[in-house]
Amino acid sequence: MPMHVILGAQWGDEGKGRILDAIASEAAIVARYSGGDNAGHTVTADGKIFRLHLIPSGIVHPRPVCVLGSGMVINPQRLLAEMEQLRSQGVACDPERIKISPAAHLLTPMHIALDKAEEASRAKRIGTTGCGIGPAYAEKSYRRGIRAEAMAQPEECADKIKAHILRGNEMLEKLYGCPPLSADAIAAEFYRYAQILGPYVADTLWLVDEALRNGKTVLAEGAQGALLDLDQGTYPFVTSSSTGVAGALGGLGVGARSLGRIIGVVKAFQTRVGEGPFPTEETGDIGNRLRGDGSLPWDEFGTTTHRPRRCGWLDLVLLRYSTRLNGITEFVVTKLDILSGLNPIRVCNAYRGSGRDYRDLPMGASRLDGFEAVYEDLPGWEGDIRQARTRKELPGAARKYVEKIERETDVPVSLVSVGSNREEIIPWN
Ligand code: IMP
Repeated sequence: MPMHVILGAQWGDEGKGRILDAIASEAAIVARYSGGDNAGHTVTADGKIFRLHLIPSGIVHPRPVCVLGSGMVINPQRLLAEMEQLRSQGVACDPERIKISPAAHLLTPMHIALDKAEEASRAKRIGTTGCGIGPAYAEKSYRRGIRAEAMAQPEECADKIKAHILRGNEMLEKLYGCPPLSADAIAAEFYRYAQILGPYVADTLWLVDEALRNGKTVLAEGAQGALLDLDQGTYPFVTSSSTGVAGALGGLGVGARSLGRIIGVVKAFQTRVGEGPFPTEETGDIGNRLRGDGSLPWDEFGTTTHRPRRCGWLDLVLLRYSTRLNGITEFVVTKLDILSGLNPIRVCNAYRGSGRDYRDLPMGASRLDGFEAVYEDLPGWEGDIRQARTRKELPGAARKYVEKIERETDVPVSLVSVGSNREEIIPWN
């Protein structure tokens, strides 16, 4: 069997976790390939809400082995807290179920301190999650990061951490004027983390390869979204990892010939957390209506930071762009129910700039300033659609909205979600 990839086709928070949950039960392996605990995946199952940041969503099912891939940066403290939380909800989190790539990088309190200091010193903020992601990937690129394999030897791991903190303190104090961190205390913490997490480090390259050779299903779980990709996203307002298909191959060590379905998860409207361009943003009533007031679990507030998300109309120009870059073979459309009651519903079908209209972004996503969104108005529908279980049970206008996405992007939709529960997902074909 090939490896199927599930990735966010927008700026993250498309609802990948629950879609993965919907198809993960058949998989032998569910593997996260990039990012760290900046991600927040919410899965609602059996009346329980599971909030995942590092562990792949497959953990909620009894079968799949969950891999934390080499493209990830892992904060051991957050990982252990997440395991504890899952255990308290009845989910087993032992080394048989969770495997950490030896080549994943460890994220430390120094990365977090540097992330916050750097963000505070920026004239133009990125609005990072403050989880230390940028500095952890920077150290990896500097080739002085500490990889998960170091946890096999807790004492050596602690020594490496100590040296890393002392070096980081130079920057913290001299460059940013911040107080230093305690190298001894953090080294001692990591000694303990290594003792606990060492047994979880496994040869994930081999595991994934073996599964693929034996015809088993591997699901590659993306984090964030295609437009936050370090290379192809709205740079510099991006995260520091490869969020798309390239990240899945590199971050799990799988060859392109193993690729199967490339599933782009698309929210029925557009959201973004943090700073950066957002051509279809609605800052008034429509934006507030799409966001919700925060009283419901699916309202548009960050799972990791609880920040209100910026909201706006669906942007088909950006969607065509992320589809093209990632070779998306199918879409899963989420949160269609949120559009109920809005009339008209707008979609951005082109950008206008320099006297012409663009349906795609041949120049990339980092230069969106100076474009004006060109909208098409589509008829809305009334009433609660969360009870619909088939395409036919949806109001005609809701069906047409999904069909419009298919037509304008030339990509078929396979599933549409109309609510946050497992059963509120409609097969589209
Ligand atoms: P960082 O990944 O914390 O460095 O943040 C960089 C940018 O990516 C910021 O705009 C964040 O808000 C955004 N970001 C990071 N993780 C997520 C996510 O899981 N969902 C949505 N936005 C994210």
